[in-house]
Amino acid sequence: MRGKFITLEGIDGAGKSTHHQWLVKLLREHGEQVVATREPGGTPLGERLRELLLTQPMHLETEALLMFAARREHLDKLIVPALQRGDWVVSDRYTDASFAYQGGGRGLDRGKLEILETWVQSGLQPDLTLLFDVPVEMARARLTTAGNAPDRFEREQQAFFERVRQAYLDRAQREPRRIVRIDATGSLDEIRKSLEKVISSICK
Ligand code: TMP
Repeated sequence: MRGKFITLEGIDGAGKSTHHQWLVKLLREHGEQVVATREPGGTPLGERLRELLLTQPMHLETEALLMFAARREHLDKLIVPALQRGDWVVSDRYTDASFAYQGGGRGLDRGKLEILETWVQSGLQPDLTLLFDVPVEMARARLTTAGNAPDRFEREQQAFFERVRQAYLDRAQREPRRIVRIDATGSLDEIRKSLEKVISSICK
């Protein structure tokens, strides 16, 4: 018996974090034990790595290695124990983000990411990945409106985010059973309705 593993993905400014909180609340109302977490982060060491990743300039391979180092810790300390207890784990980002940002955005060879994926997560894939998809201009406008100081990724150019978005969409096309694209351009109510539909299909 193992709990379900759900991940949320999308470019910065897609609104994923708001939907993350709401989804966790919805699942708890359904009576599930839910562990809400995020990447990079989710453990004390992972959060320290996150701080470095979001602020320090570094080689693109260092960036990929630190993302997977944080993930290794996350799997060991939080994700695997929770799933073994039968809890649900809802993570704001996971490995699809490495393929989209380090692979698509930065141009790191996919083969290298696949080696890290096999090494670090021994085949543990999410049961469901929700890909919140919006055009890059809309996402950037949302980030500007939110008014927070942009981190190292959010400071990237439009072309970077176009590549990240495309890499996410390509993955969704290759793995249609696991990755569900959610049109995140609509109102909160519309998006929540689509989420409820997807979630009720995996709650059965
Ligand atoms: P967040 O803003 O969604 O919390 O994520 C922090 C940033 O980290 C976001 O810009 C995407 C980036 N990221 C990667 O580049 N690769 C990864 O593997 C993960 C998990 C996040």
